[in-house]
Amino acid sequence: MEKENNNTTFQERIDKGETIEPKDQMPERYRQQLIRMMSQHAHSEIVGMLPEGNWITRAPSLRRKMILLSKVQDEAGHGLYLYSATETLGASRQEVIDDLLNGHAKYSSIFNYPTLSWADIAVIGWLVDGAAIINQTMLARSSYGPYARAMVRICKEESFHKKQGYEMVATMADGTPEQQEMIQDAVNRWWWPTLMMFGPHDEDSPNSAELIKWGVKSKTNDELRQSFVDRHVQEAHTVGLEIPDPDLKFNEETGHWVFGEIDWDEFWNVVKGNGPMNRQRINTRREAHENGKWVREAAEEYARKQKLSEEKAS
Ligand code: 3HC
Repeated sequence: MEKENNNTTFQERIDKGETIEPKDQMPERYRQQLIRMMSQHAHSEIVGMLPEGNWITRAPSLRRKMILLSKVQDEAGHGLYLYSATETLGASRQEVIDDLLNGHAKYSSIFNYPTLSWADIAVIGWLVDGAAIINQTMLARSSYGPYARAMVRICKEESFHKKQGYEMVATMADGTPEQQEMIQDAVNRWWWPTLMMFGPHDEDSPNSAELIKWGVKSKTNDELRQSFVDRHVQEAHTVGLEIPDPDLKFNEETGHWVFGEIDWDEFWNVVKGNGPMNRQRINTRREAHENGKWVREAAEEYARKQKLSEEKAS
């Protein structure tokens, strides 16, 4: 009976729009859902560094190199905020990272596609970070305090990421015929995988209803996807680019763009680990983790010695 009362009180707090903090009473399922979602979000940020990191040494100018370096470093910081926010729920950093490295945890499907040209870096900034902004702006109002607060700074940095991407897209779309061909080719390859970032249709989403009931999300996967399409079709047309969707048409009545069906076989194939770059991404991540072992050991030894000297001094 008492558990029932606690859950009712908890739901009343959510319904009143209150923020849940780490030490507050919360249903175990709420805690587990947040650990799942936040840790996978953190994994996505860290793995998301890889496709763009490949192009830092091949940037077309010093300016582009500096901007890309700064963006990739931001993504690392986003991962760290989110791993720290996940730890406030009692999840150990080591455990969640082990789950990624042994293939038990997911990260965003979008990062399992190859970056074939510099135009991909432009389109990732514009579309992928554009999708992230739509999702993360919503999450900045999440019921869980540490997650919502992590989103505030992340969204500010994502907005720079998107702007730099769109500037490159506009430059190439207005460039030489080869540049125009490159940027349209990149849009053709990244458009549909970006729509998949928002997850399955609402009716096929086992987690969404519960996340909305508990105020973790305030919009469904399809609502977020629709906002993304409405905004980015307009931006594409502004710079003279086409969207690779023959079913795309504007509905004057609803004011929304109607778009074609996503290839859900491709989506689940990538989510299940059979995408074009899944193996490479995870192997690179495992190698980086192994190569960073000495840094972790040195930091742990330093912390141990610090603790010893503080205990002696006290
Ligand atoms: N890639 C991989 N897995 C996905 C996915 C995707 N695009 N979309 C859904 N899934 C998985 C879910 O994780 C879930 O599996 P699980 O239960 O084993 O975790 C399953 O498919 C069913 O999906 P649901 O819709 O039921 O799951 P959610 O309600 O959690 O929705 C989500 C999925 C939209 C990714 C949601 O978890 C979310 O909004 N997460 C926070 C934001 C996030 O992680 N974004 C990833 C991109 S980060 C990024 O873009 C960085 C930027 O700097 C570039």
